[in-house]
Amino acid sequence: MVTEKYRAEKADKTVGGGGYLRVVSDALVQARGLSKTFGRFEAVRGIDLDVTRGEVFGFLGPNGAGKSSTMRMVACVSPRSAGTLQILGMDPDVDGPSIRARIGVVPQQDNLDAELTVRQNLEVYGRYFGLSRAHVRAKARELLEFAQLTDRAEQSVEPLSGGMKRRLTIARSLVNDPELLLLDEPTTGLDPQARHLLWDRLYRLKQRGVTQLITTHYMDEAEQLCDRLVVMDGGVISAEGSPSELIARHSTREVVELRFTPDAERPGAELLDRVAERFEELPDRILLYAADGEAALSAVHRAGVSPVSSLVRRSTLEDVFLRLTGRSLVD
Ligand SMILES: Nc1ncnc2c1ncn2[C@@H]1O[C@H](COP(=O)(O)OP(=O)(O)O)[C@@H](O)[C@H]1O
Ligand SMILES: [Mg+2]
Repeated sequence: MVTEKYRAEKADKTVGGGGYLRVVSDALVQARGLSKTFGRFEAVRGIDLDVTRGEVFGFLGPNGAGKSSTMRMVACVSPRSAGTLQILGMDPDVDGPSIRARIGVVPQQDNLDAELTVRQNLEVYGRYFGLSRAHVRAKARELLEFAQLTDRAEQSVEPLSGGMKRRLTIARSLVNDPELLLLDEPTTGLDPQARHLLWDRLYRLKQRGVTQLITTHYMDEAEQLCDRLVVMDGGVISAEGSPSELIARHSTREVVELRFTPDAERPGAELLDRVAERFEELPDRILLYAADGEAALSAVHRAGVSPVSSLVRRSTLEDVFLRLTGRSLVD
């Protein structure tokens, strides 16, 4: 509470404005034309972002989309090549240390200290922020509980499972009570049970009001966690909205998946166009996009086409991604 008040006063002094400034400073992350180049290669090609306090904001895109490059600029560990970037109202080029003190970062690769125990990983990291020994000790206890690692506290990090290491990395990123948490592929490589446990922890953080930026190439993760997301591919953002908005805007309500044996004759484009609003031919199946999937499937059957199997389902962000980029999220 004290910090909240201090921030508002400080902001007022800086620009000398009242209400207007508070609206502006509500964007925790704001980017315009943000770019990252490596030599002559442009990994991030002039993207715009507005992340609002309290929301979970996602970057959905396949490997190589430029997600980590963007995250690293927001985390103030990689300077931007062009454009503007404001984090908590500050410029990373000028105020990197002040920004880093108020954010939490979970990098794509866990970088825990293997020399230290689970508890020490939290306490040593907390001390980097100049927090008192007593504060850090209490904080570590609370975070071990939150990460469900209390019974592992005095053990070394190495034998932990992938899911436990990820939870510890997240716990560590919370040591300074960050207002903004950056999570780069939080659940990649984890089994379903470990993923669900992590999703639950991230949801709890959202309920506590921690703003989160998450990258993922899992459409179910984006749908589960994100209030709003951008679809990213080849360093470019191709769409922005809530999961349901994106599906409504870029796909149909339902999808029919038709599978055929490799040597079977597939239905022609003329038929597919007639029974569905749109279709996609993938190597192993045909996707029919229609408001009423059952009706489309009946029409296919009536035309004498018999796929080896068929499935009617709701549209997902995978369908949105396919529509926007012409390819699948996971290769
Ligand atoms: N340090 C680097 N030097 C050169 N190229 C890089 C570097 N980091 C990333 N890239 C390239 O930039 C592109 C985007 O990478 P990245 O941001 O890691 O994507 P994502 O996280 O979406 O998988 C990729 O083609 C990658 O090879
Ligand atoms: Mg990445």
